Amino acid sequence: MDGISSRSEAIEGDNEISDIILRPFELSDIDDFMVWATDDEVSRFCIWDTYTSREQALSYIQDIAIPHPWLKAICLENRPVGAISVTPNSGIDGCRGELGYVLAHQYWGKGIVTRAVKMVASTIFMERPHLRRLEALVDVDNLGSQRVLDKAGFQREGVLRNYLILKGRCRDMVMFSLLSTNHQSD
Ligand SMILES: CC(C)(COP(=O)(O)OP(=O)(O)OC[C@H]1O[C@@H](n2cnc3c(N)ncnc32)[C@H](O)[C@@H]1OP(=O)(O)O)[C@@H](O)C(=O)NCCC(=O)NCCS
Repeated sequence: MDGISSRSEAIEGDNEISDIILRPFELSDIDDFMVWATDDEVSRFCIWDTYTSREQALSYIQDIAIPHPWLKAICLENRPVGAISVTPNSGIDGCRGELGYVLAHQYWGKGIVTRAVKMVASTIFMERPHLRRLEALVDVDNLGSQRVLDKAGFQREGVLRNYLILKGRCRDMVMFSLLSTNHQSD
């Protein structure tokens, strides 16, 4: 399997959840994908709108997720419970990639995304040697996501005011970054 695994660190305080695997999406992941993609609570702070049909989700997996240069399913027992991506830039912006992630609601608060972000941080700069900076933009009200980045060792750089339109509202966004020179691998 073309994936990254985290076997050594079981999630503390939850005996049911042990290994996390990051692996490419497959079309057969559609049912698991639909669990979070159709949930308004999950999409609330995301740039995408809640999915309303299976066809729309299948198109996303086939046309966006599978061809994406670095987008993985976050899996427990090889079943996706979320997704994590590093979207590269090109040209003069080519030194940086943008981190994104999402997790099905029922798994929130178990340390899963923090672990997934640490897994990415510990491998991405070796996989992509031209990458110098991994950055993440988080809505000022998305405190859980900001906490994830704090715990994973990202630096909070500041607030970008009126930076983008999310769900029809102009939002302030917090910029976080991790540099290739200051990340610590697990
Ligand atoms: C944000 C998200 C990715 C977090 O994933 P997760 O696996 O639940 O995160 P973790 O369990 O690793 O850590 C969450 C931390 O945030 C804290 N947290 C959660 N909600 C919070 C809130 N409203 N206020 C303050 N802290 C909060 C948790 O207590 C935990 O910190 P702790 O370990 O110190 O207690 C998940 O909630 C999600 O998918 N949200 C919807 C999509 C999204 O917002 N994506 C990010 C877009 S930038």
